Amino acid sequence: MTKTLLILNGPNLNLLGTREPDVYGHETLDDVKARCLGLATELGVGIDFRQSNHEGQLVDWVQEARGMADGIVINPAAYTHTSVAILDALTMFQGPVIEVHISNIHKREAFRHHSFVSGRADGVIAGCGTEGYLLAMRRLASLLGA
Ligand code: DQA
Repeated sequence: MTKTLLILNGPNLNLLGTREPDVYGHETLDDVKARCLGLATELGVGIDFRQSNHEGQLVDWVQEARGMADGIVINPAAYTHTSVAILDALTMFQGPVIEVHISNIHKREAFRHHSFVSGRADGVIAGCGTEGYLLAMRRLASLLGA
């Protein structure tokens, strides 16, 4: 059966392309989505690509993913560093989870060095630019035997 990957994006990632391009690059979130859709076809997986600025919405989506998605790629953005609620929701998800950061959070301010989500993630990709989403999808496809 076709595997489905849920790709979640947290706050301010809707402004990708105009937001601090020296840190996050010039691609928009729609550009990233298009690249993910292209790779999904190549890998033979389905994707559901979403973004929200709201913590509770992200928690709801992770909860909905139980029994519906096979794996999750998540860039929790600023909630990476603050959200026990997203960590708890991911802990209840049955499949593999890959955490993605466009920038290398370990090379930046000290408050970005800790991630609550990493306590649940099966893999973490940081500092590979938006290509990190594609790397995460490939890893999930491999883990899921897609
Ligand atoms: C980010 C890194 C976070 O520290 C930051 O708050 C973001 C984006 C990244 O993709 O590099 O919004 O997750």
